[in-house]
Amino acid sequence: MPNDGYLDDSVHWKVRNGLVDFAEPTHSEVADAILDCGLATEVGQKLGSGKEADVYLCRDGKMLRVVKVYRQYRTAHKGDRRIKLESMGQRALREFDLLSYAWQGGARVPEPGRRNENMFSMQYLGNATTVAPMLQDAVLDHPEAFLQQTVAGVESLAEAGIVHSDLSPFNILVHEGLPWFIDLAAGIRVDRLGSPPWVRLNEAIRALEHGSATLARYFRKYALTLDTEEMIHRVRAKVDLYRLE
Ligand SMILES: Nc1ncnc2c1ncn2[C@@H]1O[C@H](COP(=O)(O)OP(=O)(O)O)[C@@H](O)[C@H]1O
Ligand SMILES: [Mg+2]
Repeated sequence: MPNDGYLDDSVHWKVRNGLVDFAEPTHSEVADAILDCGLATEVGQKLGSGKEADVYLCRDGKMLRVVKVYRQYRTAHKGDRRIKLESMGQRALREFDLLSYAWQGGARVPEPGRRNENMFSMQYLGNATTVAPMLQDAVLDHPEAFLQQTVAGVESLAEAGIVHSDLSPFNILVHEGLPWFIDLAAGIRVDRLGSPPWVRLNEAIRALEHGSATLARYFRKYALTLDTEEMIHRVRAKVDLYRLE
């Protein structure tokens, strides 16, 4: 294989023993995997498909649920180096943990369900007939209030200990008139656990500068100004950055 050196030993073993299928699973294979591990009782349409994961609308008994499935490998933009098979389980775990953390901290994110290997379930945002649209596609009835709620939402994520590092109108859903934050995959923990706080806080502020500029650009179409400095200031106050400078 051309990418031999890139795969770790356990993957080599699986490749040699025929346990790895390098073709992308079909919809019905993914559906079987979701049903087999009990994350849902019925798998419906694909709601979204990003660089690394697909999101499916599912039913669990009577409840609608969403299941996010990290693909077993992804193809890089340049060439086709495949990343380690096992790491997709890690990514699902990371996103699921951050989602759980944000939820427990009271941020407006979908309620996490359960995780199994490279997939996890969560609360479905939408109603019986319509999926909550991405902010990008939504027409806002009260854009100014929505802007304020978005800034307050980013602040409450920070209060829960997380900075969303990929803030954009694609990762905010409009549900019951309010902003819901999704796709915490690359979120940054800004509480005091893990690697040195100042490293993560600097990284978080850089991500926030980028995200707030992206959102400010979006709100310009409603002739509104999102005060990016104020948003960052509010987040910094929440994560108690000043004491670390
Ligand atoms: N809890 C949810 N309820 C309804 N739709 C969702 C939910 N989570 C994700 N989606 C849909 O799936 C799309 C992709 O989800 P996202 O987590 O942003 O994955 P990606 O990593 O592919 O960007 C979203 O843009 C949204 O339309
Ligand atoms: Mg996304």
